[in-house]
Amino acid sequence: MTEADIVEGVSLEAIVSLAKRRGFVFPSAEIYGGFAASYDYGPLGVEMKRQIRELWWQAMVRERDDIVGIESSIITNSKVWEASGHLDTFHDPMTDCLNCQARLRSDQIEENTCPECGSVGRFTEAREFNLMLKTNVGPVVDASSVAYLRPETAQGMFINFENVQQSTRKRLPFGIAQIGKSFRNEITTKQFIFRTREFEQMEMEFFCDPQDPFDWHTYWKKERLRWYYRLGVNPDRLRLRDHNPEELSHYSKATSDIEVHYQWGWGELEGIAHRGEYDLSAHAAHSGKSLSYFDPDRNEHIIPHVVEPAVGVDRVMLMLLSDAYAEETLENGDQRTVLHFAPDVAPAEVAVLPLSRNEKLGPTARRVYDVVRPRFRSQYDDAQSIGRRYRRQDEIGTPLAVTVDFDTIDDDAVTIRDRDTMKQTRVSISELPEVLNQHLVAMRPHIPEYDEIDV
Ligand code: GAP
Repeated sequence: MTEADIVEGVSLEAIVSLAKRRGFVFPSAEIYGGFAASYDYGPLGVEMKRQIRELWWQAMVRERDDIVGIESSIITNSKVWEASGHLDTFHDPMTDCLNCQARLRSDQIEENTCPECGSVGRFTEAREFNLMLKTNVGPVVDASSVAYLRPETAQGMFINFENVQQSTRKRLPFGIAQIGKSFRNEITTKQFIFRTREFEQMEMEFFCDPQDPFDWHTYWKKERLRWYYRLGVNPDRLRLRDHNPEELSHYSKATSDIEVHYQWGWGELEGIAHRGEYDLSAHAAHSGKSLSYFDPDRNEHIIPHVVEPAVGVDRVMLMLLSDAYAEETLENGDQRTVLHFAPDVAPAEVAVLPLSRNEKLGPTARRVYDVVRPRFRSQYDDAQSIGRRYRRQDEIGTPLAVTVDFDTIDDDAVTIRDRDTMKQTRVSISELPEVLNQHLVAMRPHIPEYDEIDV
């Protein structure tokens, strides 16, 4: 796929429309006119999000000896944000258009022109705008009760470094991983679920010895790319980009982004930051507690360095929807919209479809569904014609459909239809789980080895 093909690919409007029509993502509070940059996930959206989280947790925690998980509070002591630098430095420069009153990020205004109304050079002075959402905790609303919704999950890992290290007796290098909601009062929020004010992060802080000669930053770039290949993403849609020194966050020594070609061009999917000893040192200084690690081999205390891969669940979902979407013309001239999801990220792996809604077929089809559903994420659909149901399952990306027809009652066999090739195979119900599994395995993407990835 060339860059031109990607740019000419599916429009964001087509994704937003499919997401709503089929129950992936709804605008939040729609019956009240919506709420800017907030979305609700529907029945298929939540299944897909669960899969994304599971696949991340599987790769980052369960398949490894050197990473453990935590869940820390969303609202915590404000001193955490003082120490992390978020109170002082987590700002975007903001300006207002004097013509249309649009509130804009001044670093995103091009050629001094308002992107909303096109007026030129009519802006207020840029001012810094803190992105943290503020609240009050407890019965008194005053300065002493101010608290913040966390803008990243990362700090929960730093403030628990000692608890985790001592309770698990982990030795360097080791990581702490977390999945959870974060909140930012974002100014620019136009690109669907790409940038929202409430979103979910999957972050891992990998603590290593500053003298370790192994390059953990490079290692994590490769591992994280491998994860996206495991999700079936077209490698041409991804690239790595190193931050320029002036782009680096206040905590970062070096950051590489895994970028995706979205509908509006290349944009950040995941950040892989080298945070050095910034966070542990800052929390040690502010709390007065030593957050060091005792190295038994060197018989000395050291402050570990940190490499952090961090990504948003919502952004992964937008990328997967865009990457999988296709509008196709079939051999008989029919049109179909299809999501070519890898089986692991599809909301449903298997759909069980009786040929028609019928008193004779119904019980047999339910019996087949009972065989399938304990083993695979499944759907049962008997509404409307079989052709329409195939189209519906294609449109939500279900890799396999199992059709129960009138012969099934006599021969105890069903037909498996492959979403991508549309080929059909007859198989006996007793062998169905095994054959479905073989099909799904065959549809899984190839994952290159670590050494095969060039970064
Ligand atoms: N702990 C480091 C950190 O939070 P970040 O680049 O600000 O770094 C990490 O965020 C990832 O979280 C981003 O790469 C993106 O995938 C996701 N993310 C950040 N802000 C987001 C937002 N407003 N909406 C959706 N996802 C967001």
